[in-house]
Amino acid sequence: MAVQTVSGFFFLIVISVTATFYLLTWENSKSISIWPAFSVKNGSRGEDGLFGHYIFWQEERNLTPPHALFISAHLPKINETTQSSSVTKPKRDQTMSSVPETPIPVLSRESFKKLPQWDFEDVYNQDASPRQTTCAQSLRNSKDEFLQKAFLPNIRLFLHKDNINMSEWNRLSHFNNPFGFMEFRYNDVMPSLKLIPKPKEPLLPPKGGDGCVRCAVVGAGGILNGSKMGAEIDAHDYVFRMNGAVIKGYEEDVGNRTSVYVHTAHSITASPYFFQQYGYTSAPHDESIKYVMIPEGMRDFQWLEGLLKGERVSSGPYLNKEPRTYYSGQYNESRFYVLHQDFLRYVRNRFLKSQNLNATFWAIVRPTNGAFTLFLALHTCDTVSAYGFMTEDYNKYSNYYVQRFIKSNVIFYSNHDYIMEKDLWKNLHDRKIIKLYQGRGRNT
Ligand SMILES: *[C@@H]1O[C@H](CO)[C@@H](O)[C@H](O)[C@H]1NC(C)=O
Ligand SMILES: *[C@@H]1O[C@H](CO)[C@@H](O)[C@H](O)[C@H]1NC(C)=O
Ligand SMILES: *[C@@H]1O[C@H](CO)[C@@H](O)[C@H](O)[C@H]1NC(C)=O
Ligand SMILES: *[C@@H]1O[C@H](CO)[C@@H](O)[C@H](O)[C@H]1NC(C)=O
Ligand SMILES: *[C@@H]1O[C@H](CO)[C@@H](O)[C@H](O)[C@H]1NC(C)=O
Ligand SMILES: *[C@@H]1O[C@H](CO)[C@@H](O)[C@H](O)[C@H]1NC(C)=O
Repeated sequence: MAVQTVSGFFFLIVISVTATFYLLTWENSKSISIWPAFSVKNGSRGEDGLFGHYIFWQEERNLTPPHALFISAHLPKINETTQSSSVTKPKRDQTMSSVPETPIPVLSRESFKKLPQWDFEDVYNQDASPRQTTCAQSLRNSKDEFLQKAFLPNIRLFLHKDNINMSEWNRLSHFNNPFGFMEFRYNDVMPSLKLIPKPKEPLLPPKGGDGCVRCAVVGAGGILNGSKMGAEIDAHDYVFRMNGAVIKGYEEDVGNRTSVYVHTAHSITASPYFFQQYGYTSAPHDESIKYVMIPEGMRDFQWLEGLLKGERVSSGPYLNKEPRTYYSGQYNESRFYVLHQDFLRYVRNRFLKSQNLNATFWAIVRPTNGAFTLFLALHTCDTVSAYGFMTEDYNKYSNYYVQRFIKSNVIFYSNHDYIMEKDLWKNLHDRKIIKLYQGRGRNT
């Protein structure tokens, strides 16, 4: 085991231009190697520079200092219906509305020693078309108090050229990636956002029968090894997978269908390297598959520009790569979706608010791609079964189901709060909101 993981680790360093960041944001790679806790520079810049600015803004806001006014005047009018009572609405000064809209000054992650809390932190666009369901067992009908309090049934799921504009840009620039555009320059990102087509069809076409949309979400967890869950997984209306979804040779345990594949530019390009020893060659490409992208960083916007134009990537770590070749001929503009920053932030804020968001390395702390995928299913399906997600007895299994012959250990990277996610999946299972596969004979 040690040899395998160590060599994988060095290989990754070689292939990654910015290896550190890649490793830390690499999804689901709880395994590859032990990575030291992220070290954050003790920069004075944060303390006497923008950080001071931030304190000023936070404390003196009611006195409307120029910058505060500038920011709030540029906030968009968004649907503010929110179930959180603690939200103070950002102020909007009508007299400022004549100010020409320009991007706010770029905010730096280093300016904040922990996750900043904006007045509009917990305010989200909620304009997804309401999904009428006739399904009696739909999780939308759950009377569970925890879910009712946190769940926003119409949270905006997808980003596209028609729902991004200057005021949205300015609002979202207050949040670090993948939750927003902090540190990014308008001119670097907006051109690719303006290429994202508005989805023409819902992610999951409605099904007949009893009106229930039944989904399986399949993670990479070692618990699936020898599970023989393949047929049960494939029997769902839709099967969601993410990242390095190795299928060939593992069908009996993990099924063979993929209806929705969730990825980042990094996961779709790096998975073939990581998993080639297990026979993985490319992302799933079932006929009429839907592709969903998590725009986690600048490199994703560079990827998107190449992908949407059908060209090579023109800058960044994927320079000259041809994104469309990674989708095995199944890329189709009308079947490609990009998750919205509000959705990603909502998942973090309401369900996975790790204490590490108060740590100096707060800016890299985020839910896993698996967690975002599970929440996407919770918002598009009536019933959700999760397979290959972390369970209480995770130590009994390899990190990944592909690691059949040598048991690996689960590795905890500092950018994800695996224990918090594990506890949430169990909690949602106990509340009958999802059905979590917890091993053979332990499924009640
Ligand atoms: C970080 O920098 C501050 C001054 O900017 C200094 O007082 C402090 O000791 C430094 N901390 C570490 C761990 O180096
Ligand atoms: C910008 O987009 C937001 C959210 O999609 C929308 O509510 C707002 O009306 C738009 N603003 C302008 C000026 O178009
Ligand atoms: C999955 O397996 C079933 C049964 O063997 C087969 O009929 C089906 O074509 C397979 N689907 C895919 C996408 O490979
Ligand atoms: C893209 O997919 C849509 C529906 O999913 C289909 O109607 C259309 O024909 C496809 N376009 C191409 C070029 O394959
Ligand atoms: C961060 O610390 C503040 C103040 O101590 C606390 O109120 C908040 O709950 C903490 N946030 C998280 C995510 O733990
Ligand atoms: C994977 O499953 C097989 C078959 O059940 C078993 O023999 C093997 O020990 C398992 N591998 C690990 C690492 O648990």
